[in-house]
Amino acid sequence: MKKKLLILLSMLLVFSMVFAACTPKEEEPTEPPAAEEPEAPAELSMGIVLPTKDEPRWIQDQTRFEAKLNEAGYDVEILFSQADPSQEKANVEALITKGVEVIILCPHDSAAAAASAEAAREAGVTIISYDRLITDTDAVDYYVTFDSVAVGEAQAQYLVDKAEGEGNPLYLYAGAATDNNAFLFFEGAWNVLQPKIADGTFYIVNSSAAIDLQDKAELTRDEMGQIIGQVTTNWDFDDAKSLAEANLTAASAEDKGDVFILAPNDGTARAIADAFGADTDITSYVVTGQDAEIASVQYIIDGKQSMTVLKDVRNLVDDAIAMAISVVLGETVETTGEYDNGVIMVPAKQSEVISVDQDNVVEAIIDSGYWDASEFTGLD
Ligand code: BGC
Repeated sequence: MKKKLLILLSMLLVFSMVFAACTPKEEEPTEPPAAEEPEAPAELSMGIVLPTKDEPRWIQDQTRFEAKLNEAGYDVEILFSQADPSQEKANVEALITKGVEVIILCPHDSAAAAASAEAAREAGVTIISYDRLITDTDAVDYYVTFDSVAVGEAQAQYLVDKAEGEGNPLYLYAGAATDNNAFLFFEGAWNVLQPKIADGTFYIVNSSAAIDLQDKAELTRDEMGQIIGQVTTNWDFDDAKSLAEANLTAASAEDKGDVFILAPNDGTARAIADAFGADTDITSYVVTGQDAEIASVQYIIDGKQSMTVLKDVRNLVDDAIAMAISVVLGETVETTGEYDNGVIMVPAKQSEVISVDQDNVVEAIIDSGYWDASEFTGLD
C-alpha cells in the first residue's frame, strides 16, 4: 500500500515538473512585449501657479495650458500670484491641501519663491520650476525653460546686424531684478554687444554703470545687478515708458538721430518704442523684444517694433505636462541639462528660440500656427 502511494506521489511529481517546464512563468514572458508609449494617467494630480495676469506673457501660458489640458481631458487648476510672493505661497499651500502630487510654479520673485518650494517639498509634492528658475533652495525638483541666454544673444545680434559704421547710440533696458531670467537675458545681450561697444560700433547712452563696466567681456551677477538697477523696467509698461522718457530728456541731440535700443520684452518694447517714436530728434530706431505677443507682432508688421524672439509656449507647456505625467507615473523624468540655482544644480529641459522680424514673420508666426492670420492687419 505504502509502495503504491510512493509510486503515485513520484508520478505526480514528475508530471508537475514536466508541466511546469512547459508553462511560461508569468513574470518571465518568453518574448518581451513590444515597447509601448507610457499610458497617460486618467487624472493628473497637479496644479499650476503663474506669476501675474498683468504681464501678457502669462496669459499666453494660461491659454496654451488650458488648450492642452482640455484636449487631454485633464481638470487642472491654474492660479495667479499677482506679483506677490505671499499670494504665491498661499496658492501653493491651497494646492498642497487639495492633495496634488506636482506643482508647476513660475515664480514672481525667483529667490522669494524658495519658501513656496520648501512648503511643497515638506508635503512631498514635486516642484517643477516653469520658465523662471526658483533660486536659493534645494527644494526645486525640475526646471522647464527656454534658452534665455540665447534670447538676449538674439536681441543683441539683431542690433549688431542693423548697425553700420561707428558711434551708434545704444540705449539699454532690462527686466525686473527679482526675475532670474532678467540676468540671463542681459548676460546673453552683453556677450554680443560688449565686443561691439569695445570696437566703437556702439556707445552706451543711458547707464553710467554699464559705461564703467564696458571693457569687461564677462560680468559677475553683482555687476549685472548694478546695470540692471539703473535700466530696469520691472517688466512694467509704465515704468518702461517713464524711464525711456527720462533717458530721452537727459540725452543730448547727438545721442539721438538713428538709435539702437535693447528692450527686454514685447510689452516694454512697445512702451519704449512709443516714447522714442514721439521724440522729434529721433530719426529712426531699432528696438528688440521677446514673446511674440499679438500686439508686438502687429507692431512688427507696421514697422513700429523691429524684432521679437518667439518662445513657442506650446513647447514649454508640452514639456511641463510631460514631466508632470512622468512624476505621477513614477517614471524617469527626461532632462537635457542643468541650471545652477545658487544651492543645487536643477535638472532642466530647455527649448530653443527663434528671432522674428518683418522678413520671416509670416513663416515663423502664421505658418507655424502660433497665431492666426485673422489676428492681424496689413499682412499680404
Ligand atoms: C519671461 C518673459 C516675460 C517676462 C515678463 C520673463 O521671465 O521669460 O517671457 O516677458 O518674464 O513677464
